[in-house]
Amino acid sequence: MEGNRTIHAALLGAGTVGNGVYKLAAQMREEIAQRTGADFVIDRVLVRDVTKEREDVPRELLTDDWREIIEDEKIEIVLELMGGIEPARTYIREALRTGKQVVTANKDLLAEHGAELFREAQENGCDLQFEAAVAGAIPIVRMLKKSLTASQLTEVMGIVNGTTNYILTRMTEDGMDYQEALRMATELGYAEPDPTSDVEGYDAGRKLAIMASIAFQSNVTFPQVYTEGITKLTAEDIRYAKEFGYVIKLIGMTRLEEDGIEVKVHPMLIPEQHPLAAVRDSFNAVFVHGLACDDAMFMGRGAGKMPTASAVMGDVLDVMHHILSASCGKVKSSYDRQLPVKAVSETKSRFFLRIRVTDRPGALANIAGILGNNDVSIAQAVQKRSRDGVADLVIITGPVWERHFNDSIRILEGMSVIRGISGIIRVYGN
Ligand code: NAP
Ligand code: HSE
Repeated sequence: MEGNRTIHAALLGAGTVGNGVYKLAAQMREEIAQRTGADFVIDRVLVRDVTKEREDVPRELLTDDWREIIEDEKIEIVLELMGGIEPARTYIREALRTGKQVVTANKDLLAEHGAELFREAQENGCDLQFEAAVAGAIPIVRMLKKSLTASQLTEVMGIVNGTTNYILTRMTEDGMDYQEALRMATELGYAEPDPTSDVEGYDAGRKLAIMASIAFQSNVTFPQVYTEGITKLTAEDIRYAKEFGYVIKLIGMTRLEEDGIEVKVHPMLIPEQHPLAAVRDSFNAVFVHGLACDDAMFMGRGAGKMPTASAVMGDVLDVMHHILSASCGKVKSSYDRQLPVKAVSETKSRFFLRIRVTDRPGALANIAGILGNNDVSIAQAVQKRSRDGVADLVIITGPVWERHFNDSIRILEGMSVIRGISGIIRVYGN
């Protein structure tokens, strides 16, 4: 081995990501020594159940006692790969207070307590790195924190949850049932321990909060993000979308506007020819727009054992360079400002909706009138089918204030000719 200095580390967690990191660190041992001039050794691995067989991590490294790690002065880097808020938050704070560098993949924690933890890291002169917390193998955190800082970013959007993208791909392309697709995503190691986080859009919302905070240098937390998941989508929605030349994706989007930050996650109809429509399976893609850089797009695996491990180990190498050059904790946290976050009702969207209406003259004119009176413009309206005196109307609106759209839906729902409104999904574009 080339290095004569050894940097010792501990893993917190030996699940999908922990096993991937252990495996990759072992595979890269010589390369790490060549790149940094030091050996990287994982001494301890914290888990809940030390009796459980692990795919890659040797049993003799397992412990369920945090004290063995925090009190071991040899350990310089703690890799938090457990997830959840507690005890991860306490362990990270204790690690930073004892001068240990921290790498984490924990978006749940950073999207709620990021500002506090980055402050803690700075005060203790430590690194707190988190590339794996957003979009798996795509180095988007580094891009936002470093390469794009002169770009005057105004928008970040994309597909940032691998599980839901995998589920929607299987439902769209193979006609697979939702539950079966979710089961497969879990088996493949994409889903969170509680997949509600994925399918309700919370995981994507947390990633959006983190990206908005870095891109706009303002602390955005998960509770401020509007989230709508994929659980209410039906096979019929997917079929209708296809008929109109769209695919449905779970999209996260954040914009810096004059009156605050817009940040939301929801299903969206994406035109089939748009690059995001081709982002399939567990792949993620992030678009950024900046006044200086114009448009840029990054794509890669957003979840899974080895793609996530690659992001974690990228951070480890960075931290090792910092340890060896005595420059840990030198990068200033970007969470200093507190710009207002806009309510979703104060943002603009285009909508697709299906209305079942009694098929009689003037019904469409009535509906158009109500939408028009509420400042909801119609870009496209098609009567699809008529059976037993009930017609299916499909409407695509122009860009409208969400509060105006919601007002018009409330009025439409009260009309006697309307039998039901369904499939309300936002549409890409202005
Ligand atoms: P996982 O498979 O459920 O593994 C979690 C590990 O943490 C398990 O080994 C578990 O121990 C251990 N653990 C949990 N709570 C603990 C506690 N209180 N004390 C000690 N050990 C504890 O989760 P994962 O998929 O690897 O995800 C880990 C983190 O990476 C999460 O923050 C997740 O959001 C993030 N992440 C995951 C992916 C992905 O594709 N899976 C991608 C990017 C980021 P036992 O095994 O003994 O139960
Ligand atoms: N559950 C997450 C996803 C893991 O599916 O994207 C990666 O953050």
